Amino acid sequence: MSSYLSSVQLWCEEIQAFYHTSIQVFREHANPKELQDWEEKLAQLQQDLSSNTSLQDWQAYQQASELYTQLNNYLTETNHPQSTNQDRINNQVPIGGHTLPPLPYPYDALEPYIDQETMRLHHDKHHKSYVDGLNKAEKELQKARATNNFDLIKHWERELAFNGAGHYLHTIFWCVMSPQGGGQPSGDLMREIQRSFGGFEPFKKQFTEAANAVEGGGWAILVWSPRARRLEILQAEKHQNLSQWDVVPLLVLDVWEHAYYLKYQNERKKYIENWWNIVYWPEVEKRFEKAKQLKWQPY
Ligand SMILES: [Fe+2]
Repeated sequence: MSSYLSSVQLWCEEIQAFYHTSIQVFREHANPKELQDWEEKLAQLQQDLSSNTSLQDWQAYQQASELYTQLNNYLTETNHPQSTNQDRINNQVPIGGHTLPPLPYPYDALEPYIDQETMRLHHDKHHKSYVDGLNKAEKELQKARATNNFDLIKHWERELAFNGAGHYLHTIFWCVMSPQGGGQPSGDLMREIQRSFGGFEPFKKQFTEAANAVEGGGWAILVWSPRARRLEILQAEKHQNLSQWDVVPLLVLDVWEHAYYLKYQNERKKYIENWWNIVYWPEVEKRFEKAKQLKWQPY
């Protein structure tokens, strides 16, 4: 068997493992017949791969990719317009219930640009540890709320941000790369890149320079600002700095000294306590309604 096919075989095992760990979710979003068909197709592909048939590399990739995409589609509500309110609730990732998404291609698919060993280590070890750390932080914060003991709030908020940012960014990262990648975008995105940066080349140059200049670990990130209605390029050093990416702010409280010092001096606590009297919930509700419309596959 070619090394590419054995890599597809490992990918299939990964997809299968993911399917089994999240089987409850799939049962809620697909009917038993669909799931049975999916299982049979995967079993068939695995059999073809191990029995050394004349399966070509590209055929194996295509079949595995279809199975992967189908599985992901079960996680999105749009394919199931008949889904009920209960489904909507179930569609959430429960507290401490994040899972490692399988790669959308085999480990060696991005060779020669990114090597197989790096992909394996990066996905299986590094990304997995973010998922575990995020689940742990969410559960510890849940415990803190239940016991009203917030002694370790700083620690767990830091863990929540560090691991949450890591999990969400890596989940995006795997999917914005592909063996069929390269070239330039088209359509609306290209038009917006031209409008925001003056062309694809200036965009690529700024993104590259931003990535080169990240101090230590971090990311270069192309973002959409719903406020400016423009694209922007940002750096995320160490990726967290107490914040997660891929989330939408709903309610914010400014605790810089300039926000309260004239009246409260160093009594930040008092300022925060009083602030609750002026929170305008209709605005927060409005933001929440808008933000809820943005839906990604839950992981
Ligand atoms: Fe990473």
